[in-house]
Formats: sequence, C-alpha cells, structure tokens
Amino acid sequence: MRTHYCGHLRAEHIGETVTLFGWVDRRRDHGGVIFLDLRDRSGIVQIVSDPVRTPDSYGLAEQLRNEYVVKIVGRVSQRPSESLNAKLPTGQVEIYADQIELLNAVRKQMPFQVSTGEQEPVREELRLRYRYLDLRRERMSQNLRLRHQVNQAIRRFLEDQEGFIEVETPILTRSTPEGARDYLVPSRVNPSEWYALPQSPQLFKQLLMVSGVDRYYQIARCFRDEDLRADRQPEFTQLDMEMSFMNQAEILALNEKLICYILKTVKGVEVPQPFPRLTYAEALDRYGSDKPDTRYGLELVDVSDLVADSGFKVFSGAVKSGGLVKVLPVPDGNATVSNVRIKPGGDLFKIAAEAGARGLAYIRVREGDIDTIGAIKDNLSDAQKQQILERTGAREGHLLLFCADAADTVNATLDRLRQAIAQEMNLIPADQINLLWVTEFPMFEWNAEEKRLEALHHPFTAPYPEDKDDLKTARAQAYDLVYNGYEVGGGSLRIYQPDLQQQVFEAIGLSEAEASDKFGFLLEAFEYGTPPHGGIAYGLDRLVMLLAGEDSIRDAIAFPKTQQARCLLTNAPSGVDIHQLKELQVASTYQPKPKES
Ligand code: AMO
Repeated sequence: MRTHYCGHLRAEHIGETVTLFGWVDRRRDHGGVIFLDLRDRSGIVQIVSDPVRTPDSYGLAEQLRNEYVVKIVGRVSQRPSESLNAKLPTGQVEIYADQIELLNAVRKQMPFQVSTGEQEPVREELRLRYRYLDLRRERMSQNLRLRHQVNQAIRRFLEDQEGFIEVETPILTRSTPEGARDYLVPSRVNPSEWYALPQSPQLFKQLLMVSGVDRYYQIARCFRDEDLRADRQPEFTQLDMEMSFMNQAEILALNEKLICYILKTVKGVEVPQPFPRLTYAEALDRYGSDKPDTRYGLELVDVSDLVADSGFKVFSGAVKSGGLVKVLPVPDGNATVSNVRIKPGGDLFKIAAEAGARGLAYIRVREGDIDTIGAIKDNLSDAQKQQILERTGAREGHLLLFCADAADTVNATLDRLRQAIAQEMNLIPADQINLLWVTEFPMFEWNAEEKRLEALHHPFTAPYPEDKDDLKTARAQAYDLVYNGYEVGGGSLRIYQPDLQQQVFEAIGLSEAEASDKFGFLLEAFEYGTPPHGGIAYGLDRLVMLLAGEDSIRDAIAFPKTQQARCLLTNAPSGVDIHQLKELQVASTYQPKPKES
C-alpha cells in the first residue's frame, strides 16, 4: 500500500516509515552512496541507499536506471545541512531505502529525457509521437493538472453557485453551421446517408431551452474540418452554455463572474469587473481587429478625411473607392525601424504584403522637421502633414506607418504590424491579463467567393430589435470575449421567433425549402412556446493555453493533432479495410496525384 505521494513528504514526516511508488527521475552514484530522485505525479523526493545503512536495497539501487518503475519502503530522515535543497518542496528530507522493488524496467532507448531537471528542448514531432512520455514531463503534467482545475472550477461555479445542469448532446448528428467543413460519418444501416460530427452543440442547446432546462452547460467536444493554426484543432473542447429569460447585460455579468472565479481559483488572480467593452466598429477602428490585444497602446488613427483630396493618388484613390487611409503611430519608431524594413524586401513590408497591402508609406518625425518618402513629401501639403501630426499625436522620434486600401486590407495589415512591432519593442507586459467584450457585431459579412451574405456569428443570432427592418445592415446581439488578443469565447442572444429565423435564412440565401430541409426541426420547435434565450461557448483549450502561458493550443491538450490534422501517436487517420467500406457502401474517388518529374 502506498502511504504517501513523493512530493508531499516534509520535515513533519521525519522518523516515519513510508511506502512510495514512482519512476526513477535521476540516479546519481556518489562513490558508494546512491541517490535516486523518485518521481510521481506530485513531485520528487530524494532516496538514499548505501551498503552500510541500507544493505538490502543497495544491490538493486546500483542497477536502477532513469524511468525504471519502483516501489520503495524507507525511513524519512532529515537531510544533512550541506544537502538541504530550498528549491525542492521536499528538500529538507531524504528517504533511506530499506527495500526497493523493481516493478518494471525501461527496455528501449528513451527517445528523450523526461527528467524534471531536463531543460533540453525536444522537437514537437517527437513529443507527439511519444506523447505518453511527454506527459510525464513536468511542463505537460502541470498543464494537464491546470486543465483539470479549470474544469473543476467551471463545474463548481456553474452547478453549485448558479444552478446550471450539464446535459450531453449527440456526437452523431446533423450538420451545425459554424462556418467550417463537417466531419462526416457514413451510416451502415442507412446506406448513402451520413451523420455529421457537431461543429458545436448549438441547435441542441437551443432545443434544451425549448424543453425548459433554463440553464444548460456542457464541456463539449466539437469537430471542425478547417485549416489549422496554433490556436485551432480539428477536434476541440468548448465550455458551452445556454440560458433562458436573460438579457445580454445579465448574461455578460454572469459570465464575468465565471471567468473571475476561474482566474481566482486556478491562478489566484483578481480581475476587475465589469470587463471593458468595445463595439466591433470601435475595435476595428482603433486596433484593426475584432480581437485586439489591449495590453499595449499603438492605436491606429484614421486619416482618410485629411487626405481624401490630396494629390497623392494612392491615398485619395483609396478613399474615393470606399477604402481607408489609416496610420500606425510608432513612438521611438525612428530609432528601431529602418527604411529598409518598410520597403519591398523588408520584413515589415512582407508582413504587410501577406495581409494584402501593396505598400507602406511613412513619415518620420524628427527634431523640428518631418522626413517623408518622395510621394508623401511632394503630394501632401504642409497643412495636411501638420493635421496628420496633430491627429496622431506624433512627437519627435515617431514613425507613422500608413496603409491605404480597402478597409479590410488596411485593418488586417496594420493589425499585424501593430502586433509585430509591439513584440519587437517589448511593449507587451507578459504577466498582465486583459479581458474585453467585443459587442455589436454585424449580422452578416459578404462572402466574395460564393457571392452571398454569410452569418458572421451563426444564423441563429438575433439582430438588435431597432435594426430589424434592414437585416442586411443590422447589428447582431452577439459578443466575443477577448483575452490578450485571443478570442476565447463567443455567443449571442438567439432568434426565438420562427418568422424572424426564416428571414435570416433568406438573407443568407437559404430558400424556404432548403431551410426546412436543414433546420425544419428547429423552426418547428419554435412553434411550441420558445422562451427568449441566449448563450456562449468558450474555447476551453485556448483558455487553458493562455492560463498556462503556452503559445500553442496543442500544449493544453493531452493528445492533440498536428497542423496536418494527424495524430502522430496512433498514426490516425489511416486507411481502412475494403470490407469495412463495402459494408458501409462507400467507395473512394481518391486518385493519387501523378508524381512530378
Ligand atoms: P464559436 O464558433 O465562436 O461559437 O466557438 C466558440 C469558441 O470556441 C473556440 N474555437 C476553437 N478552439 C479550438 N479550435 C478550433 N478549431 C476552434 N473553433 C472555435 C474559440 C471560440 O471563441 N455555437 C457558438 C457559440 C454560441 O453562440 O453560443 C460557437 O460555437 O475560442
């Protein structure tokens, strides 16, 4: 029987005989005395074996190697003063091993060291291939623990304090439109028909409101077949919530309490409430992004009106064709950002080009003078330059970076430059947590490829009542929670009237027949007395990533997939037996691409 976990032993246990189980984290042979660091999930404790004091264990202690699994029975002793270790919670004690039992050895060369003190970075591919070993390491085992604590805090708060109940919704279901491709599962018993894995539990949670559940939550797995990035996985987890009879202000207030509860419980951090709010329009105007990182300034300034009539065609042309001219003012930018970096071939130019910009104009403010590139110098009047300096608040040393183009391009470009420059100039206080609600999203955005309007959030989101007459330009009663520049959650008040729902389907180009085919069950449910309701879903993996101070969502997930949506541990996805396909009545149309010569 285990009596203690390794990491829990303290001076108060001195004199006790303990039984421990764990892995040999490290073995050191100090000429006749063997020291073992024994590790379990709680931490590490030092084990000692020598021929005089522990003759029964010494022979085996000599044979142990890193990561062997052992049972140890021994006496807890005070460490001699010269070997006290203040950095280790168990650093005051050591265990004299009366007995050691080898439970299992390591039979293969370890692909990397898992030892707690090991600092060598390991390639991510190798970590994912041997994930079970990677999870033994301190960093990942702490991340797993943190994720568990977040889940625990969520349940405590929602269930014990706020009366939410958890309801599980189906995984084999119909498509839920959240804007990504579906993962499909063929039905054997209904040949030629397919289930879709849920992109979110959106429709079921709304139906639960029709059922009178009133306050629902679920820690729900979601599946989206989309291009992957550092903060996206094909299968990820949401904290999903839905509430009846609450308005937006009430929903946001309850959610702020939830987030504060999580932060306090797992990080001991207090965040002031209410969280700041920005409308979507304001966020784009000031930061060029609907998920701005507000831990630093570098706010954008719109100068379109000042340059609309200028002789500089790039500026006036952009404004005339409905675009914008905006400035990213960089204090001390003269010293840090050289011309070479802004011109074609330069790193900042590349960032701008990737965001769609065709070029970057600039002004440098020097002592008593301003220095500009040719086009601005010759084509903006002194008065215009002066107005720009005043509006941007530019002082000596400032670099003003200009982008002129369609609004989307200008915002995307300056958003990326703002982030890159803040990073480079060390303007981001790493330990700060900035939470922000972004509200009043437009209902729709234009999908240029498909030439139709598309729901910005999803088509079940309610418009502001005062905007209902012109749905196409209406604002949605939707909100996103932004945490240090990441969208960690998003939700909305829902439509609960069948006729309004039908109008929104029409606006996104769904005919009545199509809407009835896809969502007839929802429209029908709305006929039976549906309460006003709204909700939100958080990206749990993203939240844990941020709380753990990691840059990749993969470090918040036990068994994640790569950017190519592969599991390197099990090697999924994989081919299947032809018999399985026959049984499902599915045939592959895949044709390998001819090899390039
Ligand atoms: P949304 O699509 O905004 O809303 O998703 C909610 C949150 O889930 C996270 N998220 C992801 N995390 C990891 N990998 C992904 N591929 C991924 N996609 C989204 C984000 C996001 O904020 N049904 C609505 C919610 C609602 O209206 O209540 C929904 O799913 O952090």
